[in-house]
Amino acid sequence: MKTLLITPQIEAALNRLAGEISRDYKDKNPVVIGILNGSFIFLSDLVRRLDFDIEIDFAILSSYGDKTKSSGSVRLDRRYTAQLRGRHVLVVDDIVDSGLTLNFLFGQIWKDHPASVKLCALLDKPSRRKVPVEIDYLGFTVPDDFIIGYGMDYAGRYRNLPEICVLGEEG
Ligand code: PRP
Repeated sequence: MKTLLITPQIEAALNRLAGEISRDYKDKNPVVIGILNGSFIFLSDLVRRLDFDIEIDFAILSSYGDKTKSSGSVRLDRRYTAQLRGRHVLVVDDIVDSGLTLNFLFGQIWKDHPASVKLCALLDKPSRRKVPVEIDYLGFTVPDDFIIGYGMDYAGRYRNLPEICVLGEEG
């Protein structure tokens, strides 16, 4: 495995993103929805840099079937519990890959009549995109490698690595 992004780079991105989000949401009391499991470290580090009122909620989504198809085989395993009508919603995820997960979730969220919905993603892997997803606040664009660490897993492992790494063929 090799390190792709070290802690000072991650912290600089967190500070920049928190600044952008603060500028846009300071007086809006947004609902921040983290997508589990991968976003748990990113969300924790991000929200501690926001010094205004927010509500924090979580959703769990899973893909099933053939993820190479753009048919949207995504399921909401655990629904957020906040009432979104009229609220400003900021979805936080670790990585956008095919886009299927976020595309599906945004469709669900809009049914609840929020005032706005935006996306903050730490990583974007545009080479794998199957459906378009607009990322309003982005940390880094990454190549088509298998990314682990800082919340991201391979078969349930490596989420606790403090830095963002690439899994090599040798493991
Ligand atoms: C990852 C990641 C995103 C999703 C992105 O989650 O956290 O939610 O995949 O992929 P997509 O753009 O192709 O839909 P994963 O399904 O690996 O579960 P996890 O969050 O528990 O790691």
